[in-house]
Amino acid sequence: MAHHYLCKGSDLAEGCARGFDPRGEGADTIFVVRKDGRLHAYRDACPHYGDTPMAWRKDAYLDGAATRIVCSAHGAQFAIDTGICTLGPCLGQALTPVPLAIAAPDDIYAVMEET
Ligand code: FES
Repeated sequence: MAHHYLCKGSDLAEGCARGFDPRGEGADTIFVVRKDGRLHAYRDACPHYGDTPMAWRKDAYLDGAATRIVCSAHGAQFAIDTGICTLGPCLGQALTPVPLAIAAPDDIYAVMEET
């Protein structure tokens, strides 16, 4: 497993999401959401259809009220804290979580398989 630096925790405000390209693949492959003070990270790949990227523009992973993760392709909605689809074409399926590691003082890393 490798630790990939993402950002400072202070760069991720409450109710915000941010995409990252930790392996330098040319497009965001994971995203992180801060909700109720906690960080949640998932692969940027919708379970509905063949690993479809979910944001229609950079960092647009949430609904307007920042209460759900939304896939822009067909509108599937996912709970931020569990990644489970609660509405839409992949109901009951889930996003793939990405473990995070926090290093002092405020650095966020994604813990990912070596490629
Ligand atoms: S690919 Fe995400 S809802 Fe269809």
